[in-house]
Amino acid sequence: MKKIIEKEFAIDYLNKYGSQMTIGNGYLGIRGALEEDYPEQVRGMYVAGIYNRPSGSTSSELVNLPDVTRFHLTLDGEVFSMLTGTIHSYERYLDMNTGELIRKITWENSAHKKYQINFRRFVSKVAKHLIAAKLEVTPLTGDMKVKVRTGIDGQQTNFGTQQLKELSLRIFDEERMVGEYQTIESKQQIVVATKVNAKGAFTAKNRQLMTAVEQNVAANETFTLEKISSVNTSLSKTDEVLPNTTYLELKKETDLAWEKFWKQTGVEIKSTNTFDQFALDFASYHLEIMTPKDDIRCSVGAKGLTGEGYKGHVFWDTEIFILPFFLYNQPKIAKQLLQYRYLHLKEAQEKALENGYKGALYPWESAFSGVEETPEFAAINIRTGTRQKVASAISEHHLVADIAFAVCEYAAATKDTAFMMNCGAEMLLETAEFWISRTTNRNGRLEILDVIGPDEYTEHIDNNAYTNYMAYFNVKKAMEWNKENQPFQKRAEKFLANLYLPVANESGLIPQDDTFLQKDWINLDKYKANQGTQGILLDYSRQEVNELQILKQADLVMLFYLLPATFETKVMKRNLDYYEKRTIHDSSLSKAIHAIVENRIGDRKQAYQFFQEACLIDLGTEPHSSDDGLHAAALGAIWLAVIFGFAGIDTREELLQITPNLPDAWQSLTFEFVWKGERIGFKITPKMLELSKTTTSVLELIINGEKHSFTDKLTINFEQKDVSL
Ligand code: BGC
Repeated sequence: MKKIIEKEFAIDYLNKYGSQMTIGNGYLGIRGALEEDYPEQVRGMYVAGIYNRPSGSTSSELVNLPDVTRFHLTLDGEVFSMLTGTIHSYERYLDMNTGELIRKITWENSAHKKYQINFRRFVSKVAKHLIAAKLEVTPLTGDMKVKVRTGIDGQQTNFGTQQLKELSLRIFDEERMVGEYQTIESKQQIVVATKVNAKGAFTAKNRQLMTAVEQNVAANETFTLEKISSVNTSLSKTDEVLPNTTYLELKKETDLAWEKFWKQTGVEIKSTNTFDQFALDFASYHLEIMTPKDDIRCSVGAKGLTGEGYKGHVFWDTEIFILPFFLYNQPKIAKQLLQYRYLHLKEAQEKALENGYKGALYPWESAFSGVEETPEFAAINIRTGTRQKVASAISEHHLVADIAFAVCEYAAATKDTAFMMNCGAEMLLETAEFWISRTTNRNGRLEILDVIGPDEYTEHIDNNAYTNYMAYFNVKKAMEWNKENQPFQKRAEKFLANLYLPVANESGLIPQDDTFLQKDWINLDKYKANQGTQGILLDYSRQEVNELQILKQADLVMLFYLLPATFETKVMKRNLDYYEKRTIHDSSLSKAIHAIVENRIGDRKQAYQFFQEACLIDLGTEPHSSDDGLHAAALGAIWLAVIFGFAGIDTREELLQITPNLPDAWQSLTFEFVWKGERIGFKITPKMLELSKTTTSVLELIINGEKHSFTDKLTINFEQKDVSL
């Protein structure tokens, strides 16, 4: 049952469900806000790539566009609200099978008249500009006079910041309402059009273009109103702004498109905990609707198109956590995500130059223009009035190697040499040149100083293990793809020969950076119990946190995930244990990666525990944790944990390697995986691995450490072992 269900109306959870019940198609996303207004409710519609930089701000924001989802409903003179009258039954769910959001309410007003009210809406998965909504009201006790006010509401803002200039509001053919807008600074054009299938009285006032439809309806008859809307922008226009179509017609084609998606991309988990399947479906659904499908100018923001958190900016989240889902399901989309970075190579080169480096230094946070968008300051300390500077833009450089890593992952998984020749090799070269210029020679040893690793609780440190190893990987791969470039080969060889790569000390610990192991340790139980809330920062200043062994997420564990072959299992285990004790998991990117690494070292019980906790990041019971949008990377990581953790797939070498290790609660795991142009069917149980494909080529691969090959079908029987080191 692929349904996100809200069983009862609770005002405290409005915005969390608003994020969870987002509908969309990668071009646009519409939050699951209720049709009627409530104080604090955040309504939002976002189109990928439509940003605006408000005056006085250093960063652009994903623009909250004029709304078409609001329905002001008056029944027999009383305004419908779930805060008044009596709710006799309530049901709201997002059907992930079809992308349709449905709400059914039996409501009694203050005069004791009862009504059945149903709302439905979806975004087309075929005609990406279109949105369909439907309202049905049935009076259950006598006749009713219904009045519905709806249209285009240009009063939407980003928490008070007005991003749009209204250019025109017009009615065409006594039916179509059209609003034209322009983003104030970025000068993007937005055209929102809508129409309902009933005659009404039009008004245009206070940035709202509305129609009011009134009807008398007999008892037990159903009043139905359909509303079809479209959003076009200067980034993507259709010839026909608003086609003549019905809710049902649009839905039929969208249903088929979703069916195809689930057939190819769906992962089936047979588990005694049905929540596992639900969490994975939730992740797949959202990854699909947050990712642009046909525009290399857009990438995926840290909250997708589900809210305004992180201002819609693109982080390393995309390449490391989200891209693999597409790479191994719909490689074309993974390629587009990389093309977005290629498109902005120039801005990355400029940033490198401005900071005194060579090559390409990608911005820590990116939006439409490809320049650095990280806000200069973080939240204000309201006791002192001071703002903390955000150091990521100047020091969090690992992103450069993360992008290079994704390029290599793409090259390994596809046979797309054209992409590598046209874009990939150059991206690797430029990112490698950055690293070469980023080092400092200290007594003949090359070191990378003053960085922030993925663990953002430790700033301005030297020789961050994650950064150094990833930079090494980046330069090594760049050499493989730029063999003809002799001057570069020489520089790169010198870099690889002299770069300092921290190794395990006599107690088996790899230092996260030059000073980490010398710092004091404090008991983190209290903060771990409230992980994800950054509660530590209420008790300790950032400076104090920086001086203690406190991790937001563990750099070494992240590194073990990405480069497993580089480290021995016993080293991974020792460091995982050590660093986990010091990790609060305040980053939503943390837990699922721990699940993968735990599984690789053989502790599937602990791995499953981490996996289950990772699934709760957006689906837990805490009311406000996802109000400003879902954690896109954490959703990607749920999929990673299943495929690279429990299914045990490893794509780092030329041959695909599979070492399955399913949680004890799972009876089977079934999915498809695209590898070097072939779609491979996987079925895994605790005792068996079954692979199938429809092509005639011979595929060589390594299963549980042994080489195998097959054409159309392969079955391997094995025993899952409890490995405890
Ligand atoms: C994490 C970063 C991440 C960003 C956006 C931060 O809290 O520490 O690693 O890129 O959120 O998701």
